[in-house]
Amino acid sequence: MWELGDMFKFILYADAILLKMGITCWSDEECIKILKKCKDAIPSKEKGGKVIIIDMVLMDRNLEKGDDKSYETQLFFDMLMMVHVFGKERNQQDWAKLISGAGFSDYNIIPILGLRSIIEVFP
Ligand SMILES: C[S@@+](CC[C@H](N)C(=O)[O-])C[C@H]1O[C@@H](n2cnc3c(N)ncnc32)[C@H](O)[C@@H]1O
Repeated sequence: MWELGDMFKFILYADAILLKMGITCWSDEECIKILKKCKDAIPSKEKGGKVIIIDMVLMDRNLEKGDDKSYETQLFFDMLMMVHVFGKERNQQDWAKLISGAGFSDYNIIPILGLRSIIEVFP
């Protein structure tokens, strides 16, 4: 079904790749496969290559005092991912493991989109 445009097989070369809610529904192994394909498709960090992920970064509840509703919503999304697909919502450490597992050197999380964040990932 996903022969053409299948991100597991090939990603078009670009200076930057945007993955919006595009990998949260996959297992860790699958996410690493996708991120490796992205890394193959972008130039080096020095030449401006990057992957931009827009997705949820689960909050650390202790750090987010007084924001129980947001925390609960994130946990419901986590449950949704587990019930319907093989994915899960991930905290900062989980994202770091995927990013380094795919061979990227650095990342930067910018939490400016409500429950979602921008994650800049550098080769
Ligand atoms: C959760 S949706 C996000 C859609 C959109 N980016 C957004 O934020 O509204 C995940 C998307 O991944 C696409 N997708 C699933 N498997 C794929 C694959 N193997 N290669 C490329 N895209 C795929 C689906 O068609 C779907 O559009």
